[in-house]
Amino acid sequence: MTPRVLKKRASKDWAFLPAISAAALAVAGLALAMPAAAQGSARANGPVEVRLDPSRPGPVIDRHVFGQFAEHLGTGIYDGVWVGRDSPIPNVRGIRSDVVAALKALKVPNVRWPGGCFADEYHWRDGIGPADKRRVQINSNWGGVPEPNSFGTHEFMDFAEQIGADAYISVNIGSGTAAEAAAWIEYMTAEKDTTLARERAANGHPAPWKVPILGLGNENWGCGGAMSATHYVEEMKRFAAFTRNYNPAQREGAARMKRIAVGWDSDKLDYTEEVMKAWKDRVYSWDIEGVSLHKYTTGGWPPHLPSTGFGHDQYAEAIADTLTMDSLIAKQSAIMDKYDPEKKLLIAVDEWGAWLEPAPGSNPGFLQQQNSMRDAIIAALNVNIFARHAERVKIANIAQMVNVLQAMILTDGGKMVLTPTYHAFRMYVPFQDARVVPVAFDAGQYVNGKHRLPRVDAMAAKATDGTLWLSLVNVDPARPATFRLPGFASASGEVLGAPKVDSVNTFAAPATVAPRAVSARAKGGVLSIELPPHSVSVVKVMP
Ligand code: AHR
Repeated sequence: MTPRVLKKRASKDWAFLPAISAAALAVAGLALAMPAAAQGSARANGPVEVRLDPSRPGPVIDRHVFGQFAEHLGTGIYDGVWVGRDSPIPNVRGIRSDVVAALKALKVPNVRWPGGCFADEYHWRDGIGPADKRRVQINSNWGGVPEPNSFGTHEFMDFAEQIGADAYISVNIGSGTAAEAAAWIEYMTAEKDTTLARERAANGHPAPWKVPILGLGNENWGCGGAMSATHYVEEMKRFAAFTRNYNPAQREGAARMKRIAVGWDSDKLDYTEEVMKAWKDRVYSWDIEGVSLHKYTTGGWPPHLPSTGFGHDQYAEAIADTLTMDSLIAKQSAIMDKYDPEKKLLIAVDEWGAWLEPAPGSNPGFLQQQNSMRDAIIAALNVNIFARHAERVKIANIAQMVNVLQAMILTDGGKMVLTPTYHAFRMYVPFQDARVVPVAFDAGQYVNGKHRLPRVDAMAAKATDGTLWLSLVNVDPARPATFRLPGFASASGEVLGAPKVDSVNTFAAPATVAPRAVSARAKGGVLSIELPPHSVSVVKVMP
């Protein structure tokens, strides 16, 4: 089979962001106070003054923006998560224990499964029942390899439970039927004595599961059936109406299942428009709670940026691309605002991350790549953007969890290594469900060729326990940055740095990019924190 890798169009949206995004300024309450010309005016190497206003906490950074994505793709599931019960690799019911332990430390809020494009061809009955009776099919999207269906609904739910995450299930609108999807959700959630609930019990799980998030299709403008937006909307409405969640614990209020319709990626605005128009005119029998947005950091299509051995030029190219996430969310929000000014519907950025050149020697259909210090910076910048759009962006899923694209974890047989992106996600745990705190700073400029990028980034939030946390990113690959915080006396936290922007962790050298304690000094009522070039830090600050 031809590996399916070159399917997307290049994003047309390559506009540079201002040094401080409009959203950052709005959160800071400075939109009118700071002239555009001043936004790039920070002294080239001077300290960056950061002012926080904890007395005015903003919206909650929903913990679900720290979600993961696990598709049947390459070694993302098989080898990465599932090794089988008889494997010499330590496992619990076939799920590898080292990966579970590492993911538990991230407090993963949800995992999106089974795809992606794989979901557009997934038939859930292939993945239940006795292991030796499961249908072996071809994974036509990803490498054309046999898909054994050994990891199906029960195994996924077990995995989600082992790491403490919610299930985000994507149903098949591309090649499936509404009846098939409805039966799957009933199989998972029915509490009453129905035929499907009995079948679930016979397969080993008498109690109903919860399905807190349901994806109504995936990229149906592309791998999900190449549907026009209007055609997709007609299909989606039927799926939204008939995929009923029967779990009694999910019938009311915040616990109700959230249904996410397909929105756009960089150039598919019509999907969001049509979905929102239909939602505005909806009748009692169907509803949705959110619309998706997909955006990968590629530097242009096809993905060509290397995952190792790159310099500052390609670093700047990737950072410039990743920062367009801000304007993409703003555009999607503006469309949604027309139909939903009260912001009842959320945005789920349920695929995002760096999509780079395949690792040398790998199957190009497996989307395997190394993960560097640059990728940790990409992760931090994107999460900071989500925080600035916290009123709309309430779900996000980085692609993908293990061994695929911008992974948290890489495995090879029994070996496992944590990537720089993993460390960034672990450091950001205090921001889960924290409330955004207005922060004002002059981001300055880091200039590389045609790219004028912010030299630094900052985001602040009040955690659920009342403590105040700050993310500080030094984007500049060559110059350290000193952050000055008037009114603060001490800080504790971690800085993730590395010798070079392309430094990576390998099985042989797993701690080249690893967090260490941050050092801060207080003098004259001002706290100073010095951060190395190309670094990410997360600190708790105290007055
Ligand atoms: O994450 C890889 C692929 O990217 C997903 O399967 C698809 O939805 C997207 O195009």
